[in-house]
Amino acid sequence: MRQYIIAGNWKMNKTVSESVQLAKDIVEAVKDVKKTEVVIAPTYLAAAKVADVVKGTNVKLAIQDIHWKDQGAYTGKVSIDMVKEIGAEYVIIGHSEQRQYFHETEETVNLKVKKTLEAGLKPIICIGETLEQRNGGILKEILGLQIKGAFKDVSAEDAAKCVLAYEPVWAIGTGVTATDEQAQDTQAYARSVVKEIYGEAVAEGMRIQYGGSMKGANAPGLLAQKDIDGGLIGGAGLKADTFKAIIDAAE
Ligand code: G3H
Repeated sequence: MRQYIIAGNWKMNKTVSESVQLAKDIVEAVKDVKKTEVVIAPTYLAAAKVADVVKGTNVKLAIQDIHWKDQGAYTGKVSIDMVKEIGAEYVIIGHSEQRQYFHETEETVNLKVKKTLEAGLKPIICIGETLEQRNGGILKEILGLQIKGAFKDVSAEDAAKCVLAYEPVWAIGTGVTATDEQAQDTQAYARSVVKEIYGEAVAEGMRIQYGGSMKGANAPGLLAQKDIDGGLIGGAGLKADTFKAIIDAAE
């Protein structure tokens, strides 16, 4: 039985003080949550203070991205040691916004996945197609490339620690959610690719989140699907009550 994982990706939202407040609100809102793993990903700037808020609670910290190098002249970037020191457990890697706006490639995703695993943290690896790719009939090809690229030279033991997040680009922040069936079919396909690489046990154990305009109203239908093991939440994660509504659907 795979444990649901609901993660709030705050993207470039909230000042440090707003982030601390939201983290406190979420900690309070989910204090009785037992079955679902709850994760929040604030900005780099707010991460250390949010880490203090979630310490010792049932809310875990994720970071939105890392650089794959250990240190050095990489203006604007943070290393895995920096995020490890503050107590982050997860790193979001390969988000479509990184792919679309910041030159993320299959190669850089793979380097970041390996660096995260090497440090003992867990990657949340984002995959997903654009509308053009879906309409053009190359959905499976794109997902196959993304999954195989992310896991290149990653052992089965390490792959088992990763979470996949399927986010159709056309559903992110648009209010248009994939239907339960579209999400289920695509995520079943993603799991079959993992099975092709690592076999049944790793594929069946791997958690695959859905992301893209997920909210309290559509979460029950999505989370009831066999191959949907949680959510990567943008907009609805920016308020404790809307985030909690999704967690309730998982509980
Ligand atoms: O990382 C989160 C996703 O991109 C989903 O964002 O819930 O605002 O559509 P959204």
